[in-house]
Amino acid sequence: MTSHIVPDLEARLALAETVANEAGALALDYFRRRDTLVIETKRDLQDVVSVADRDVENLIRGRFNEAYPADGVLGEEYGLEEGTSGFTWVVDPIDGTSPFVNGMPNWCVSIGLLYEGLPVVGVISAPCHDEIYAAALGKGATLNGVKLSLDSSRTIRNAVTGIGANNHVTPKTVAAIVESLLEAGGNFMRNGSGALMLAYVAAGRLVGYYEPYMHAWDCMAGYCLVKEAGGWYHPFPTSGERLTKGAPVIAAAPGAIDDLRRIAQV
Ligand code: IPD
Ligand code: CA
Ligand code: CA
Repeated sequence: MTSHIVPDLEARLALAETVANEAGALALDYFRRRDTLVIETKRDLQDVVSVADRDVENLIRGRFNEAYPADGVLGEEYGLEEGTSGFTWVVDPIDGTSPFVNGMPNWCVSIGLLYEGLPVVGVISAPCHDEIYAAALGKGATLNGVKLSLDSSRTIRNAVTGIGANNHVTPKTVAAIVESLLEAGGNFMRNGSGALMLAYVAAGRLVGYYEPYMHAWDCMAGYCLVKEAGGWYHPFPTSGERLTKGAPVIAAAPGAIDDLRRIAQV
């Protein structure tokens, strides 16, 4: 698919950037007064959420509904509202809620856009770092307006790989991933935000990212960014019900693709 056959791609990218900035500012305001937030838990004591996540998602949904009422919206907190235009916005209002509630800066607002099931826009705002990552299919990726382009000499051996995990996978599975990465001569980090680590792959800070089970709202924006920076991603199933379920998420710079696919066994 080329950019000219995605209707209104540039306008949608511009809107996504505006909305990500606005949502990032709201989230940052909550972050600065996080001591006043009531923290609730979801699947377990590590899986946290607060009114900040819900308010930020409501703001984002409102903006997209207003501008493109026929577009669908999938958000982590309020689920899937189907559209009729072929477009679906895929939103994580705060990715990295654990760092957020614990007072660490590694969280972001992640806004992806699917057209006919393919990621065509990705915008990630990291307010504590004053960074905005933006990409659209066929139009490249930028960080604060500066073009991103991956260096093919970086591999899992001379650079760092991001790893993520949640309680959908067993400790044994996570241990095996870390073990095979280390055995292959790599090293890992986890900052608590899968979406932000995918943006770091696009920026060349991490050479790849692997998490065995994440959701579409965690990866769609990052996938578009990585692809447009010259990297690769493992396709996420987007048809029907699959869009709301988890799947492996893998993205890599050119020199790390084969190693990471071997480690992830895909
Ligand atoms: C989580 C973060 C985390 C990843 C988890 C995600 P949340 O999202 O991205 O890094 O390991 O799988 O669920 O809960 O902070 O939005
Ligand atoms: Ca998330
Ligand atoms: Ca979230």
